[in-house]
Amino acid sequence: MKNIAVILAGGKGNRFGDPLPKQFLKVAGKMIIEHTIEVFQNHIEIDEIAIVSNADYVIDVERICAKNMYSKVKKILKGGSERYHSSLAAINAYSAVEDCNLIFHDAVRPLVNNRIISDCISALSICNAVDVAVKTTDTIIRVSSEMTISGIPIRKELYNGQTPQAFKLKTIKKAYELALKDKNFETTDDCGVVYKYLPNEDVRIVEGEGSNMKLTYKEDLFLIDKLFQLRTMGSDNKNLLPNIDEDIKSKVIVIFGGSYGIGKDIVNICKEKGGKVHSFSRSENNVDVSDQSMIKSVLESVYKKEGRIDYVINTAGVLQKEPLCNMDYSDIISGVNINYIGSIIVAKEAAKYLKESKGGLLLFTSSSYTRGRAMYSLYSSSKAAIVNLVQALSDEWYDWGIKVNCINPERTKTPMRIKNFGIEPDNTLLTSFAVATASINTLVSNMNGVVIDVKRN
Ligand code: CTP
Repeated sequence: MKNIAVILAGGKGNRFGDPLPKQFLKVAGKMIIEHTIEVFQNHIEIDEIAIVSNADYVIDVERICAKNMYSKVKKILKGGSERYHSSLAAINAYSAVEDCNLIFHDAVRPLVNNRIISDCISALSICNAVDVAVKTTDTIIRVSSEMTISGIPIRKELYNGQTPQAFKLKTIKKAYELALKDKNFETTDDCGVVYKYLPNEDVRIVEGEGSNMKLTYKEDLFLIDKLFQLRTMGSDNKNLLPNIDEDIKSKVIVIFGGSYGIGKDIVNICKEKGGKVHSFSRSENNVDVSDQSMIKSVLESVYKKEGRIDYVINTAGVLQKEPLCNMDYSDIISGVNINYIGSIIVAKEAAKYLKESKGGLLLFTSSSYTRGRAMYSLYSSSKAAIVNLVQALSDEWYDWGIKVNCINPERTKTPMRIKNFGIEPDNTLLTSFAVATASINTLVSNMNGVVIDVKRN
C-alpha cells in the first residue's frame, strides 16, 4: 500500500495576523512549510507527497518545490476556504486510486518527527483511521454562553489532538461522502469526520509529542525557533554521517583557526576523507581573522588554485576571562576583533565564493551566549552576537542557497581551555574530535540558520 503524505497548507493564518500566511514564515533558516515537507521527503516509508495550497500561493509552493528539488512531491493542489475543503481536494485527487494510505499533516507543524510518522503508518496496518494526540496537562472546562462552568470532563481521559491524521483512502472517502450529505456538517479535523459518520470504525491513537506543536499565534514562533535550536547533536552524533566520505572528497574547505583544538581536528578529518583543505591561523601562516585584506587575499588565492570554495569554517577565537574594568582598551578591541569582527570579515569575504558553490559557512559560539556572566562580559557578548549574525545571514543568503550555521560546544578539552582553566577531569569535557565530527556533520547536512548544541552523553 502506497503511503501518501498530504501537507495541508491552504490556510491564511488569521489568528496569527501576518499578511503572509504563517506557513511561509522563516524559522531556523527555512520556511515553516519547507521544514515540514522535508521531514516527509526524508522519511523512508513515505512514497509520495501532495501539497494543498491556497489558490493565491500555488506559484509560491511550486517555486519552493522546484528550488529544493523535492522528488516525492507529485501534486500541488488548490484547497478551499475551510480546512476540510483542503483535505477533500487531496481525497478527490486520489479517488481513482484503488486504495492507499493518506497521511494528512498540518504544514504549520514543522517539528513532526520520523517516529510519529512511522507509528501512524504501522497503526494503519491494524486499523483504518489514526489520530496523533498528547495527554492534556491543563484541566479542560466546558463554558456556557453565560461564561460559567457547565462541565469539567475527567482530565485523565482527555488528550490534545495533533497531526498527522492517517487513513485508508477508502475509509476517509466514505466518511466525507456521508458528511457532505449532512447539511449541518462542520469539522476542524479529519478524524472527527470518521468518528462522527463512521461510528463503527476505530480511530486509533498514536502518542504525539509536545514539540509537535502547531504555529497558531505569534508567540508560538519563538517557541518553535527555540525548539529547532535545541535539537542537539548529542553523543549519538559523534560518529560521522554515512554520506560524509562522498561529500567531503569533492569539496574545497577553508578553515580559519585550524592549527590546534577543534579546528585542527576538522582539518585532519577532512584531509583523511580526501577533501581539499586549506588551513589558516596566526601561528601556522600568520593569518589573522581580524585583518580584512589578509582574509580577502587568502580566499582569493584558494579560489585561484582550486576554482571553487565549498565550506568556510571559522574556529579562531580567544577566551578572555577578566572583569571589564580591569581590561585596557587595547585588549578589549583585540578580543572583540578576533571573536566577533573576525567572523564578520570571514563571512563577508567568503559570501561570493559560497554563493557560487551554494556552500556552507560555519561559525562557533559558546554555551555562555544565552546568559552573560561575570568575568566573561566580552567573550560571551561576542558569542551572543555570533548567534545573531548566523541567524541574520542565513536569512539574507537564503535565496543564494548558502547554509549558515553555528556550533555551540559544551566545555571542550582544547589547549585554550587548559590554558584558562587548568586540569579538569576528562569525563567532564567533550573531546575536540567529537566537536569536529559534529561540525562536519552539520556542514554536509541541509540545516540552515541553526545553533547546534554539541553535548556530552
Ligand atoms: N489549512 C488548509 N486549508 C484551509 C485552512 C487551513 O489547508 N482552508 C491548513 C493550514 O494551512 C494549516 C493547517 O490546516 O497548515 C491547520 O490550520 P490552522 O492553523 O488551524 O488554520 P489557518 O487557517 O491556517 O489559521 P487561522 O485558523 O488562524 O486562520
